Amino acid sequence: MYTITVIRGDGIGPEITEATIRVIEATGIECRWVEAHLGRPDDPLPAETLAQIRAAGILLKAPVMTPKMGRKIVVEHDDRTQRLYSNVNTALRLELGAYVNVRPIRTMVGVRSPVQSLDVVIIRELTEDIYSGYEHRIGEDAAEAIKIVTRQASERAARFAFEYARRHRRRRLSIIHKANVLQLTDGLFLRTATEVSRDYPEIQCDEAMVDSCAYHLARHPEQWDVLLMANQYGDILSDLCAGLVGSFGLAPGANFGEGMAIFEASHGAALDLAGQNRANPVALILSGAMMLDHLGETGAAHRIREAVRTVIREGRTVTPDLGGSAKTTAMTNVIIDHL
Ligand code: IPM
Ligand code: MN
Repeated sequence: MYTITVIRGDGIGPEITEATIRVIEATGIECRWVEAHLGRPDDPLPAETLAQIRAAGILLKAPVMTPKMGRKIVVEHDDRTQRLYSNVNTALRLELGAYVNVRPIRTMVGVRSPVQSLDVVIIRELTEDIYSGYEHRIGEDAAEAIKIVTRQASERAARFAFEYARRHRRRRLSIIHKANVLQLTDGLFLRTATEVSRDYPEIQCDEAMVDSCAYHLARHPEQWDVLLMANQYGDILSDLCAGLVGSFGLAPGANFGEGMAIFEASHGAALDLAGQNRANPVALILSGAMMLDHLGETGAAHRIREAVRTVIREGRTVTPDLGGSAKTTAMTNVIIDHL
């Protein structure tokens, strides 16, 4: 019996969470689901939520909208320091110590997609870069944001990426950056990751500029494998890759820290689809499979991935984004039938 915290989230969140829980339970794995709350306007990041997740060490999370408060989310730490956040999703990740985001994205037979064959894993540093939220105004008509890169955080993300590549028998890892312009920040990231690569001689390591990488992802998708990058590039290229494989609904993800793992899809809350039973649940279901891998339940994880692949390949019971007309619940039922 595993204890897993769940955040059902906003928009399509509750529907895809329900689908994911049903699929996981249908594998026979027994879980105790502890419901936690996030993003309420009066208390966007409750201390109780953090405590529940820390106790379980594991979270299944749907997309959450940041409440429009007009002020930052303030977290008081025990040592009397404060941290301010502008987005509740990033706040949660950072407070829980999640430092790296893993997003495996691949084309699937049965999905009409702009590219034929893409199979990449985006590994995204999560704690710094320009997403730390250190922004301020300079007078009325200017503002600035600070981009932070440290050797420590870059090394930790790079080490994770190479270990991931080794464990998953990936052959190539590309460090993605813009060090021709951001020589100090991206330069440090690139240098640090290149140093780490020397400990992994069996993995071919190279580097690419983020703009050129975007172009070549679209033109020569098959040439890429594991992609390591800083926070913002990872955010942007995740959505690019989801588009290239044909749907937002196909890009799962996981965030890891010390003794902490958060499983969440790469997409947002899709408010326009909410409550209509039309959302594609696959990205969160596949994030659930990543969660089972993490728990050592690799057999169940494999069965889920195979069932999803079969249902999509057959194409009879898929949601509108995949060219079908099935409801979320109907697609989920068929995935369960194929387990
Ligand atoms: C994502 C999302 C988040 C991010 C937002 C909601 C802060 O876009 O998970 O990709 O940028 O990380
Ligand atoms: Mn994003």
